[in-house]
Amino acid sequence: MRHFLQFSDLNAAECAYLFERAALIKKKFKAYEKHHSLVDRTLAMIFEKASTRTRVSFEAGMYQLGGSVVHLTTGDSQLGRAEPIEDSAKVISRMVDLVMIRTYEQSKLERFAANSRVPVINGLTNEFHPCQILADIFTYIEHRGSIRGKTVAWVGDGNNMANTWLQAADLLGFKVHVSTPSGYEIDQSVAGLRRPESYQVFKNPLDACHQADLVTTDVWTSMGFEAENEVRKKAFARWCVDTEMMSAARPDALFMHCLPAHRGEEVSAEVIDGGQSVVWDEAENRLHVQKALMEWLLLGQQTT
Ligand code: CP
Ligand code: NVA
Repeated sequence: MRHFLQFSDLNAAECAYLFERAALIKKKFKAYEKHHSLVDRTLAMIFEKASTRTRVSFEAGMYQLGGSVVHLTTGDSQLGRAEPIEDSAKVISRMVDLVMIRTYEQSKLERFAANSRVPVINGLTNEFHPCQILADIFTYIEHRGSIRGKTVAWVGDGNNMANTWLQAADLLGFKVHVSTPSGYEIDQSVAGLRRPESYQVFKNPLDACHQADLVTTDVWTSMGFEAENEVRKKAFARWCVDTEMMSAARPDALFMHCLPAHRGEEVSAEVIDGGQSVVWDEAENRLHVQKALMEWLLLGQQTT
């Protein structure tokens, strides 16, 4: 049994399979062709933080595969009344085939997985957001081909998205140029890199963008850190991806953002709504890559 708790749970060949499978599943979806590979399977989705994209893509995706979903939140389940996560895992995983969790500490997700009889998927933790990076790289490949040897500029917080980009770069052979305000740096030990040369740190965000193939950013304040919002607004003021930063990148560079976005904070409206932005493809592709992921976790590699 396999879980998808962080990007490094996959190897490069498995990633390549998932991207190929997602492309096929997407093509069939666009042609209104049925792809019912998970008939009678049930996904439990546990949300301890808010979500739009993750909820809709997993829920719609599971129905489109012929399965069904159960949606739980902290507020409407015993999770919010201190039932141990281990007990919840033992119970929920006896009733469903697959579990997706969005929570705070990665360690909580790992405790759930350690007590689960079925595969568990990380739907975002404080440390990682691997489903998003699967969608982002799939989107890059659709627009530009292989990401191997390319440079991704990460401008902003050293957060869950940044850690996951580093793991993906380590695995798939590209480079991440990281620029964060001081005090918000990446903690390299979280990503647990095998090739530390897959990322490079820049003080000035403009330098990180220089000759990049992809420029990407995220909110200044992630979920769970709201109390720091005002302090962060001051610290991050220079880490706004604007047209100047995009001009420092390669002329054919793409812009990505996992969304939700704050125009005028981490990205200017001209950039996110401009010609280099692929944020809507990126959001849509959550659906297709996660369908491939769920199918693979439950059925293994498919040939038809
Ligand atoms: N990008 C992403 O995970 O969005 P949601 O928070 O809306 O799920
Ligand atoms: N870094 C953000 C991503 C939201 C999808 C957060 O954790 O809130």
